[in-house]
Parts: sequence; structure tokens; C-alpha cells
Amino acid sequence: MGRLICLSNRIPMGPNPSGGLVVAVGDALTSRDGLWIGTSGEINDTPEDQFRPVEGGAFQRLCFDLTPEEQANYYDGYANSVLWPLFHGRTDLMDIRAEFLSTYKAVNRRLARMLADVITPEDRIWVHDFHLLPLAYDLRQMGIQNRIGFFLHTPFPTPLAMQALPNGSEICQWLAHYDLIGLQAERDARNCITAMVEIGGASELAGGFIHLAPRQSRIAAFPIAIDAGEFSDLAAREFDKLPSGIVKPERRLMIGVDRLDYTKGVPQRFRAFGEFLARHEEWHRHVSLLQISPPTREGVEAYDDIREETEHLSGQINGRYADISWAPIRFINRPIPRETLAGLYRAADVGLVTPLMDGMNLVAKEFIAAQNPEDPGVLMLSQFAGAAEQMPEALIVNPHDHEQMATTMLTALAMPRGERRERYSALMTTLRKKDVHWWSRGYLTALG
Ligand code: UDP
Ligand code: G6P
Repeated sequence: MGRLICLSNRIPMGPNPSGGLVVAVGDALTSRDGLWIGTSGEINDTPEDQFRPVEGGAFQRLCFDLTPEEQANYYDGYANSVLWPLFHGRTDLMDIRAEFLSTYKAVNRRLARMLADVITPEDRIWVHDFHLLPLAYDLRQMGIQNRIGFFLHTPFPTPLAMQALPNGSEICQWLAHYDLIGLQAERDARNCITAMVEIGGASELAGGFIHLAPRQSRIAAFPIAIDAGEFSDLAAREFDKLPSGIVKPERRLMIGVDRLDYTKGVPQRFRAFGEFLARHEEWHRHVSLLQISPPTREGVEAYDDIREETEHLSGQINGRYADISWAPIRFINRPIPRETLAGLYRAADVGLVTPLMDGMNLVAKEFIAAQNPEDPGVLMLSQFAGAAEQMPEALIVNPHDHEQMATTMLTALAMPRGERRERYSALMTTLRKKDVHWWSRGYLTALG
């Protein structure tokens, strides 16, 4: 029986997970004899042409360094300034440059060469996310016939948006070398099949299969998840450790947790909260918004812009409404350990998960799993998060409509306990049934 080899650009290296991929793949690998390969996070002028082991951890890890040019053109460039905005419906932010694409291909080829030295024919290979789209193509060019699966953690763009990418058809050709292409949501699976047919020239077969010579691939949604039972226990333990002062009987708490990314809708959320405060003077001093937003991808200009915009808006709202004993918004720009977040979610009355576009959004699932079943908080969830397909009992909102969001904030804060419990219990039933083990088992069974 071969091993499961996972590959992703980022692998867990420090104490804090950075994003949902590391959290979910980490959970999936902990229960398997697996190997995880990715970049080290270190930049090196002359990186070695082989992996090096990472010490410790619950599973085996191998890593490799990037050169400064690779970091700039592959990671900041093609991955985060072309594919990320495209896949999240922001074609206006794409920065198309020949050197970005050529370095992206070169990094994937280098990774494929190093990988070929460590795999055996029985191993199953599971490639994660948009940084590594060409990896199966590169491995097949080297004669590797293993089962190779791909999972995209982001949304898949509409076929119209794909047309904005000069090499859209090349991306479809790369994808056709995987045996299984997993997406977060049904909407993404539909977009992917349509793009493969209309842009890649594949023929659609029954049952989510497509054919693009020489391979037949399956495309399906496998919504990513968390270990809901474990997270619920963690939240109960961590809640008791929170510093006093976080939970105040006279003040309600709304919480948002998002990397400081323009896809997460934080400015829109702040505007909606400003609107809520303008409409409801009776809530002044009785509610505050704790927004935790660690910086991310600081080498990319669009991320500087979002930082400035959110700092400006939170300053403006605090300037207008704060008094000596209350600031409406606490805006934290540091990563907070996931355990602490678990306790904070439980302390919060309302969870604000309002991205403009998101593959899944694990924070939505974590917020629900962390609640006290007797007196649960309420989740406000964007219709554009992949999680909305599985969590219809949340208060579903349109993040572009700040008036509707302000109205929904009042509904959430005023919701009677009976309704909160009903919604929580329906959401939690799905989260327990479709947890991270269900996700990885379902995917790997389909990969074969
Ligand atoms: N997270 C964390 N500390 C932080 C912010 C986020 O541990 O300061 C974790 C969070 O608990 C969640 C993940 O990072 O597990 C974010 O995943 P999500 O799918 O919501 O968004 P992504 O960052 O992958 O776009
Ligand atoms: C999203 C992406 C992941 C990425 C994470 C954090 O979840 O789908 O691939 O690892 O964001 O972003 P970063 O660029 O810091 O790895």
C-alpha cells in the first residue's frame, strides 16, 4: 500500500496556521500515514535541488526554498496577482506579465523533478490549490502514471472571467492531467466543467466526467470542513481561559476573523456596522465589533490598499462614536492562535463572515462549532462564501448591500434564544456529519 503525498505551496511551519488550507489538510493528514511537501517560507539565492525534512509534527514534512525571483514572480506574481484575483472575480486586479507565467511554470517543473525522486509507483499524489496547477502535467511529461488528484481551495472562475486570462485554455489543459479535480462547492464544479468544455475543448461525459485526450477526469464538489466535535470541546476549554473583561454582561460582542484580504469584505462589513450605529443609538456602548485581521501577502500592492482602507474606516467609525469607556471597533492586525480564536468565537454573540467571494470559509464552520449549545450566538454569512451552500440556517446576507447587512445585525442581536438554538442545532448536525474526516475520506475514495 503506497503513501498519501500531499503537495501545497504552504505547509505548516510555525505555531499559527495561515489560512484554511493548512488547517484542513493538517487535520486530514494527522489521521493517515502521509507526507506533506511545500515551500519552507525561506528565500535562498541558490536553493538545493532536493527537499529537506522538517523536524517534529504529527506527520512527515519535506520542504524546499524559493529564490527571490521565484518569490516575486511565482508567489507574489502569477499566483497572487493573477490567479487569486481571477479566481475571486476580481479580473480588474490582475497583473498579466510574461515573467510571472514563465517563473510559475519553472517552479512547478522544479518541484515535479524533485518529487519524481521521492515517489514510488504505489503512492497517491494529492495536489492542493492554485499555486500548483501544472504539477500533474509536468509529472506526466516525465512518465509518471500514479493516481494524481487536485483540490482547489478557492472558487473556480466563471467561463467569462476565464476568458480574461490569456492562457485560460492552457490552464484547462493542465487540469486535464489530473484523475480527479475537487472543488469546494457545486457552483465551482459547474464553472469548472463548463470551462473545461468551452475553453479547454474537452467533451463532457455523464456523472461529472470529462474527456480531454489522453485522459478521462472526474470533476466534483467536496466541501472542505473542520473536526467539529474536537473544535467544540476546544472552544469550551478555551472560553474558560479568556481574560476577564472580554465577556461583559452589559455589552454584546460581534466578531470577524479574516486574513486582511480584499476578498473578505472587511470594508463593506465596517460600513454596514457604521450604518447600524447611525440607525440605532440605543445600541451605542452596548455592542462592539472585534475584527481580527492578520496581514497577508504583503509583497502585493492590492494588500497595502486594503490595509489603508480598513484602517481609515475603523478610525472614522471609532472617531465618530467612541466615548471614554467604549470603542465600537477593535481592529487587531496580528495573527491570533486558533485555540484563542475558539474561545473568542464562543464569547461572541454574532459571527460576521461576509466575504465578497470565498472558496469555503472555515471561520464560518468554526464559529458555529464553538458555540455553547444552551445559549448559542448567531452567524451572519455571505451568500458568496462556499459555506453558504451547506449552511442555509445562518442569516444569509449580500455583503454589497450595507443596508441589508445593518438590518440583519439588528435581527441577529435581537434573536430570541429559541430561534438561536434551532438554527445552531441544524447547522451543527451538518457540521458533525460532514466533518474534515468525511471530506478527506470522500475525496480519497473517489481518487481511488
Ligand atoms: N486563523 C488563525 N488565526 C488568525 C486568523 C485565522 O488561526 O489570526 C485560522 C482560522 O481559525 C481558520 C483559518 O485560519 O482556520 C482561515 O481559514 P478560512 O477558510 O476562513 O480563510 P482563508 O484564510 O483560508 O482564506
Ligand atoms: C487561502 C489559499 C491557501 C493559502 C491561504 C493563506 O486559504 O487557498 O492556498 O495558503 O489562503 O495564504 P498564503 O498566501 O499566506 O499562503
